[in-house]
Amino acid sequence: MLQSTSTLNVPKEGQVAQPTTKPGLTDAQVEFLRELVIKGGPEVQDYDRLVDLVNGLDPEQYPAFREIIAPALTEYSLQGWTLHKPFGYAGDFMVIEKIYQQYVSPNFLYRNWDRFYHIQHAARAVRNRKEFFKQLCARLESKNNSEKHVLILGSGPATDVFEYLDSRPDSKIHFELIDWDQNAIDYATEKNREHLNKITFHKMNVLRFRSHLLYDMIWSAGLFDYFKEKHFVYLLRKFEPLVAEEGEMVIGNFSRKNPTRCLMEAMGEWYLNHRSEYELMKLCLEAGIPEDRVMVDREPLGINLFLRIKGRG
Ligand SMILES: C[S@@+](CC[C@H](N)C(=O)[O-])C[C@H]1O[C@@H](n2cnc3c(N)ncnc32)[C@H](O)[C@@H]1O
Repeated sequence: MLQSTSTLNVPKEGQVAQPTTKPGLTDAQVEFLRELVIKGGPEVQDYDRLVDLVNGLDPEQYPAFREIIAPALTEYSLQGWTLHKPFGYAGDFMVIEKIYQQYVSPNFLYRNWDRFYHIQHAARAVRNRKEFFKQLCARLESKNNSEKHVLILGSGPATDVFEYLDSRPDSKIHFELIDWDQNAIDYATEKNREHLNKITFHKMNVLRFRSHLLYDMIWSAGLFDYFKEKHFVYLLRKFEPLVAEEGEMVIGNFSRKNPTRCLMEAMGEWYLNHRSEYELMKLCLEAGIPEDRVMVDREPLGINLFLRIKGRG
């Protein structure tokens, strides 16, 4: 059986030399990966083998793995975009938008890599959270007929807002969107050009935001997973007082049970602070928010968890 060769295979005297392997991966793995590259990405029958291969790698083997599939990791594939981070950070508005739109490259060399990307649990969870957001907005609006205020931290492409407002031209929600990336703000502005009377953009770091308003909902998805505990708790303390009495704050965080974690890290160097329900609850307690005002919710796959913190009412 071929084995992983992070150590050197120096044949002893009289021994037949073993087949040469790429550092860290077996010859069979290398051959499989090269075949995928040549045929323009995995086909459905290759998915399980590729996922198993990646899940079985040691993080030290990731660079060798990426080297073999390097031709697929240009900015024209989603994996390559994720890896190269053209906007300077992982999870930029464009990659999130491509996940929402299930964008597939027209180029034969990348098409099947993109299809593989979208089928992964993490991408599906991202799409699910957009639906989750729209449901929360609809529920908020169904309470009564008064005007509502929703604040979004790390708004990215604002496709969630766009889809909601597009389906509800008579919506009474005014959205305030915070993002520190001007490219994200520009994209979201253009995307929502027909709804700009219901949106205010703030181009700034969420850590610096100030407001005298109280919000019916404060929503954040795809942001807190990037923060270490200290900043997470700081932001909870900062924004919780801005929740209206009957309102709520909803904070997304990827679960430790994310089955796509190895793929994200091995292919895209996309690192999140995955957290369990228990860890999320604990952060609330550290922020001084009592347990009886907090619950942990989830999208249907249970991968994107949501801390739901009730207002003080
Ligand atoms: C992963 S995207 C999520 C976008 C959106 N919430 C969604 O789920 O579709 C994260 C966004 O947060 C923004 N962001 C990251 N850190 C931020 C910070 N400290 N202050 C403001 N925006 C930030 C990024 O620019 C990016 O657009």
